[in-house]
Amino acid sequence: MLSRCFQIVTLVTLAVIHHCTCANVLMITMGGTKSHKIPFWELARGLIPRGHNITFINAFLSDFYLEGLEEITPSSYVVYVRNFTNWDLVGARIKGEEPVPFVDMIKFGYEACDVLLSDSETKDFLRSGLKFDLLVLDGAYPECAMGFVHFYGAPFIYINTVGMYMGSLSTAGNPTLYSVTPFLARPFSDTMNFIQRVQNFGFYMVANIMHSVMTRGKLQDIVRQYFGPDVPGIYDMSRNVSFILQNGHPVLTYPRPFLPNVAEIACLHCKPAKKLPEVKPA
Ligand SMILES: *[C@@H]1O[C@H](CO)[C@@H](O)[C@H](O)[C@H]1NC(C)=O
Ligand SMILES: *[C@@H]1O[C@H](CO)[C@@H](O)[C@H](O)[C@H]1NC(C)=O
Ligand SMILES: *[C@@H]1O[C@H](CO)[C@@H](O)[C@H](O)[C@H]1NC(C)=O
Repeated sequence: MLSRCFQIVTLVTLAVIHHCTCANVLMITMGGTKSHKIPFWELARGLIPRGHNITFINAFLSDFYLEGLEEITPSSYVVYVRNFTNWDLVGARIKGEEPVPFVDMIKFGYEACDVLLSDSETKDFLRSGLKFDLLVLDGAYPECAMGFVHFYGAPFIYINTVGMYMGSLSTAGNPTLYSVTPFLARPFSDTMNFIQRVQNFGFYMVANIMHSVMTRGKLQDIVRQYFGPDVPGIYDMSRNVSFILQNGHPVLTYPRPFLPNVAEIACLHCKPAKKLPEVKPA
């Protein structure tokens, strides 16, 4: 009798613990290419079996059904991104050109934010009364999504999808050593000569200034227009990121100093290798 009672108490306790530790997670990537979604999907695939519900806002229509994952793809945002980012990233590299002109990156930043936040599907979603326990944002471009962080008043983490991009890591306090950390759009490695280090420094400076001009000059106002005038400074908010899943690895993105709240997760989406077919010698 006692052991039966103990069994029931244990089951009820476990059920309560299970219920209490399940969370509603909101993921947002505003990346201009579909590849940004892949590490988010992998994280979702790991969280759903543990009882968490995932809502995922992005610009690319979902192409499979996964129980526990709901993708929100506001239509004007989908159309805008598809039209804007018909980039030929590989062809430009082969021709030795910049894959995406700096000016276009800046323009994409604030236009995409305005299109997403003004879409009626986004507005309906915000009005639906859903509550979230955690937001997972794309570290490649989390600034616009800070509006959602303020709106839901929940903690947030990043997946830094672009492993070579240092901007968000740097804002969160991670040192970016210009002498050994190559700028993402330069073919430098962690061993640079003096001239390359100077060029590397120059690229970081220009990128940081343009980022700051876009964020303070444009995004801040757009986010406040949709989420209210009391939204704090975007950089003040993004500095508070709780944890960063960094899509890199020393082998791929060079050794770097990271704070303890950064975990390198390159190859999160990798599957075990298949065996190669055997070739019989002729
Ligand atoms: C997740 O979604 C299911 C089905 O909509 C719901 O029954 C469950 O309560 C949700 N879980 C949480 C933590 O809200
Ligand atoms: C598509 O992009 C082009 C050039 O970037 C722009 O002129 C045009 O207005 C855009 N069309 C739509 C439907 O957004
Ligand atoms: C950042 O976090 C600190 C400590 O929790 C808090 O006092 C501060 O208000 C936060 N800043 C913003 C802009 O959210």
